[in-house]
Amino acid sequence: MTSAPSQPKSSSPSQEDLKAIIAPVQAELAIVEQWLTTNLIDDNPFVGELLAQVFQSGGKRIRVAIALLGSKASLKEGAELGRLNIIQAVLTELIHTASLVHDDVIDASALRRGKETVNKRFNDRLAVLLGDLLFAQASICLARIMNPVVVGIYGQVLGDLCAGEIGQMRSQFVYDVNWERYINKSIAKTASLFAAGSHAGAILNAASNESVQALKDYGVNLGLCFQIVDDLLDVTGSSSELGKEPGSDLRAGVVTAPALFVLERDDEPAKRLRELIKTRQIVNDEGAEEGLKIIRENGGVEATVALATRYAELAKDSLSVIAPSDARDSLVALIDYVLVRTK
Ligand code: IPE
Ligand code: IPE
Ligand code: MG
Ligand code: MG
Repeated sequence: MTSAPSQPKSSSPSQEDLKAIIAPVQAELAIVEQWLTTNLIDDNPFVGELLAQVFQSGGKRIRVAIALLGSKASLKEGAELGRLNIIQAVLTELIHTASLVHDDVIDASALRRGKETVNKRFNDRLAVLLGDLLFAQASICLARIMNPVVVGIYGQVLGDLCAGEIGQMRSQFVYDVNWERYINKSIAKTASLFAAGSHAGAILNAASNESVQALKDYGVNLGLCFQIVDDLLDVTGSSSELGKEPGSDLRAGVVTAPALFVLERDDEPAKRLRELIKTRQIVNDEGAEEGLKIIRENGGVEATVALATRYAELAKDSLSVIAPSDARDSLVALIDYVLVRTK
């Protein structure tokens, strides 16, 4: 691979930065971690081992952070996070993880969180079933929350996740530039769950409509920023840092922001990139290499950073009506983390 230009950033954020951000909800995070590896279905030791494999392999827990911090930022003065807030954080991460286990089947990925994926280690059938089992665990959590509004929110998320993946599948190797399609797909695939995570806790805490809406807007914008950065890292990242294979979007004909910015131009590099996608040369080592090089050398990276930054700013603006607190400060810091993350 030719060396990728690094993203413009002040410094590379680490797991330590994330720990500092999550500090206001540190105690609750520890309880969430216990829940995640608890088999709520039965006492099958094999299932227990699979849960441990998936959850002890170092996911960033960004959605847990968003859920716990969003809940805390919406508490009335003097109130503390409760059991329902913890369960809502657990269920958000369960749905995320289930979607990743299924996504790796769809993308035929071999590497996730620096380890072999479930589909690679076992097979697709087992990965489909494990994903379903994680969704089942999430439904049990939803039942324990006993709030029909929250059930509705997460039901919509489950549908959005599938619709997003279906939409992406149907537009593989499509190289016409349609930003609305890209943004809508990213909302469905990623931002919908971020938004559920960020505002369902405020509903459970009976926060004001204004706070609930603000936290929802925060989640949508941060989720979009997150997916755009994820698409960027597929162009600029390394497998050792990402824990998954970069370059895999283009090889699969999945055209994301960095490529779209080049494709919307009317010049030679754009023509060549279109050609590589149209003729499916993009799926081969040589074609993918050339496609990535065209994107990197023709402003695809810089324009994508600018797009992600716009959503980061919108996420920050959304928080303006939330009362100042350490949790709110952490929600702001999380935006900066997402924007400059390298893994
Ligand atoms: C990856 O999400 C999937 C996307 C929505 C792009 P994360 O990067 O948050 O995955 P983990 O949980 O940290 O592995
Ligand atoms: C994220 O899509 C998967 C879901 C949100 C369901 P990607 O395919 O971009 O995620 P990675 O890059 O494999 O983590
Ligand atoms: Mg994938
Ligand atoms: Mg990706």
